[in-house]
Amino acid sequence: MIIRRPPDIAPSEITDPGVYNRRREFLAGLGLGLAAAALPGRALAVAAPAHGARFEGVVPNVVTLDEKATPFDSMTTYGNFYEFGPDKESPARNAHRLRTRPWTITVDGAVKTPKTFALDDILKWAPLEERTYRLRCVEGWSAVVPWVGFPFAELAKRAEVTGNAKFVEFWSLADAEQMPFVRIPFLDWPYVEAIRLDEAMHPLTILAFGMYGEVMPKQNGAPVRLVVPWKYGFKGAKSIVRIRFVEKQPETVWTKTAPDEYGFYSNVNPDVPHKRWSQANERRLGEFFRRRTLPFNGYAEQVGQLYTGMDLKRYF
Ligand code: MTE
Repeated sequence: MIIRRPPDIAPSEITDPGVYNRRREFLAGLGLGLAAAALPGRALAVAAPAHGARFEGVVPNVVTLDEKATPFDSMTTYGNFYEFGPDKESPARNAHRLRTRPWTITVDGAVKTPKTFALDDILKWAPLEERTYRLRCVEGWSAVVPWVGFPFAELAKRAEVTGNAKFVEFWSLADAEQMPFVRIPFLDWPYVEAIRLDEAMHPLTILAFGMYGEVMPKQNGAPVRLVVPWKYGFKGAKSIVRIRFVEKQPETVWTKTAPDEYGFYSNVNPDVPHKRWSQANERRLGEFFRRRTLPFNGYAEQVGQLYTGMDLKRYF
């Protein structure tokens, strides 16, 4: 492993001028956890969480796939949530520290008036739907997840977005008291991702409040995260506290960290390799053999027209 383990990183290093090098080191480690994780029958290093409260009245099968859902235990014990640590198991180990109530989302930027909404009110805006989407991580693993949520457009409707807005930023919580690794600047906190406004308004783009019929497990981004199924998973900011509409294409946590490796668009594209590894195939969590990666993660028919005339190798 190239990622340095938590005990190696002393808090005194935080203001260290080697921050940049540490970021490179951290980035160099991404994708390498994969090999170990692919070993069949690997014992789980962390326990799956207890099942959470179930949502009532979820509209079933609004989007389904003819593919087996990834087991709940795999989806909750292997993932990325760097605010809780740099390796795949630290979210499951540490995310219990996250307090998900009270929770608000502030909506500001290119809107008539900035507003702050309570999560429990947001949950009443529209029927919760079950939408089973493929999730493709840029590191080469993937999953099939029955999310519970509703289109982002429901929020945009209430935000009174001005005509100048062209992009949307999604800000994750960055509270060092709950998220210990926010003290360590291996990423430029807070975790902010962004997409174009028309991508955000596409009916496949959702705010997800849960998965597998239950409230979102903390390690997967409780109480609310973004899901954009045709993009690499890192576009889906977790534990969102702020949504900002902006006029110009913004920097994101990943374009700031390594612009040559993580483009703004980050549409799943098997023909555009990552600088350090191929994107041609992927391994589903819980499976052994790799499978071919599909353009736009299999959603080309639905979203291809958003990119007509764009050179997707340049705008990767
Ligand atoms: N959001 C925040 N705030 N912090 C993160 O580290 N990781 C991203 C994304 N959202 C991340 C995040 C990455 S790299 C992926 S692949 C997905 O969350 C993983 O989601 P999962 O753990 O539910 O599979």
